[in-house]
Amino acid sequence: MEIIIQPTAEAATKIAARLVAGVIREKPAAVLGLATGSTPLRLYRELVALKLDWSRLTTFNLDEYVGISPQHPQSYHSFMWDNLFRHVNVSVKNVNIPDGLANNIPAFCESYERKIFSAGGIDLQLLGIGTDGHIGFNEQTSSLASRTRIKTLTPQTRKDNAHFFGSEEQVPHHVITLGIGTILESRHCLLLAFGKKKARAIAEAVEGPITSMNPASALQLHSKVTVCLDEEAASELKLQDYYRWVFDHKPGWQKI
Ligand code: PGA
Repeated sequence: MEIIIQPTAEAATKIAARLVAGVIREKPAAVLGLATGSTPLRLYRELVALKLDWSRLTTFNLDEYVGISPQHPQSYHSFMWDNLFRHVNVSVKNVNIPDGLANNIPAFCESYERKIFSAGGIDLQLLGIGTDGHIGFNEQTSSLASRTRIKTLTPQTRKDNAHFFGSEEQVPHHVITLGIGTILESRHCLLLAFGKKKARAIAEAVEGPITSMNPASALQLHSKVTVCLDEEAASELKLQDYYRWVFDHKPGWQKI
């Protein structure tokens, strides 16, 4: 794992944006795995400002709430169109977001997996992390080999996401999420985390044992993971000084 610690979320996001832009410029028909939530908002603004060519890209979103329509203001469909897709020249037919209203959820999940495979697999998977270490909506004790499927949110995640909905009662209980096994098949994972409330989950994911009690720790099994953090999210890492030194002394050819 490459751990990049920056003084602020703005600075960490700028590095993440350079990395994403590099992938898009190098492979104009790349397949991007996209995330929602507060964490990637700044990144999407940066990417829009870079005026990249999205016309040949294919995107797959990580997750969606079950039982709410794409038009619902808190659906991840709405989130993605409001915060990114509407502002870039992405082709609607290349955008994939799980269907929270699918009649047959297992069949839908299988078809989503097949679609990722047919598109050639995900080149770059963007990830946030929950306060409990979830990635996508793979909650604690999710199988580290899991595939796209329905999950039930924990009370903590529903509490964490209540601010989007106005109240905890309105947060759906069920979601469709890419599995951890699916995420691990991406060629490169880019995990972003900002703020003190993510510090423990990040320390466990990066430096703790691999355990389904911190689903993000499964990323230790992946050969190419970049983690962009602000100081607060990095504050519980034991090897902070080492990660900083490594980043400051990267050889020129390896710089982002
Ligand atoms: P957040 O959520 O970006 O809103 O903090 C992250 C997540 O739950 O994966």
